[in-house]
Amino acid sequence: MLTDAQLLEAAERFGTPLYVYDASVIDRQVARVQEAFAGARVFYAMKANPNLTLLSRLRAQGIGFEVVSLGEFERARRVGAGGDEILVNGPAKTEQEYALGSELGATFIVDRASELDLLPSGAKLLVRVNPGLEVHTHSHLATGEAAAKFGVRLEETVAVIERARALGLSVRGLHLHIGSAITEPGDFGLAFARVAELAAQTGPLEVLDCGGGWGLDADLHGIAQVAREAASAFGAQLWVEPGRFLVAQAGTLLTRVVGQKSTARDFLLLDAGMSELMRPMLYGARHPVRALWEGEARSVDLAGPACESGDLLGRDLALPEYRPGALLAIEEAGAYGASMSSNYLTRPRPAEALFEAGEWRLVRRRQRLEELWEHELPED
Ligand code: LLP
Repeated sequence: MLTDAQLLEAAERFGTPLYVYDASVIDRQVARVQEAFAGARVFYAMKANPNLTLLSRLRAQGIGFEVVSLGEFERARRVGAGGDEILVNGPAKTEQEYALGSELGATFIVDRASELDLLPSGAKLLVRVNPGLEVHTHSHLATGEAAAKFGVRLEETVAVIERARALGLSVRGLHLHIGSAITEPGDFGLAFARVAELAAQTGPLEVLDCGGGWGLDADLHGIAQVAREAASAFGAQLWVEPGRFLVAQAGTLLTRVVGQKSTARDFLLLDAGMSELMRPMLYGARHPVRALWEGEARSVDLAGPACESGDLLGRDLALPEYRPGALLAIEEAGAYGASMSSNYLTRPRPAEALFEAGEWRLVRRRQRLEELWEHELPED
């Protein structure tokens, strides 16, 4: 874990708000995954954090990439990933993505039967199955439920495989991803087992991709075991696609306290808010918060600079008495922090810094204000 002194140094050098990443935590998480899922292929869902420095680091450890846009595709290529290291996913892929993916020999995750007509002959694919199960997570994060927009219904899966083969496509196997931030072990077990039942009809397949979605304190070995059992039903190699698990705990959002106020509640006012970390507002997510100063504790809410009542990064937190300019570390912000940040309120995206081998290194500079309107076309 980064020490208070290291965090203070980063804020001093690079300013706030600032995302900081601890390389050793990423390496530790990679090692945990590679140990629990030994023999499986790991594809990082780069939507969690697509910073090129992190991507290079993961690729150097043998990890491929799941991409869902042309931009993510190009990032994978920028760090040298070839077609066999790339999974092209998404419910509404574009013509350009199909063209680039098949030119490079990437594997597509087919999300609906009608997509088969859009793929060039010979394209490699996995069919995404929707197991149609209730999943225990925030409703925005559940993807394996019958009403979700993802995947092919279980009972249609075999027909989709047959049609793909008839069209001259190369079906490598099946895919499922039931949602994100899931800690209930039974959710994975039930979903994987349901898909494994298809083996009686499909016969052997090369790949079973069990997706990601592992909550930070999920039982990794338990998930690995049920995933392995499902893959073995098809005689398939297991693939997985973690995002959050690899990078969330490595990242911290550093923000300064710029003021305080009281209404019916007591607030600390911060220089970061919903534009830097959407998760509390969007999913009611609670991120651990560490104060980098001392004082008598009192209960406060953390308010960002946006003119929206929901712009709160935390509620009812016991934090030291207000001190102007004090620093707060909002933890577990390495996944879906920077990647979901926005320019709302014409606020520049924060810088990103990596702590590695005892040193800080800037891995993304802070956006300049002028960049925020450079694409606009005023008449005069
Ligand atoms: N594979 C597929 C097909 C996915 O759609 C996702 C995430 C992953 C893998 C990686 O899931 P993870 O291991 O990171 O849970 N913005 C939300 C999370 C959305 C996840 C979307 N799909 C959040 O901040 O919690």
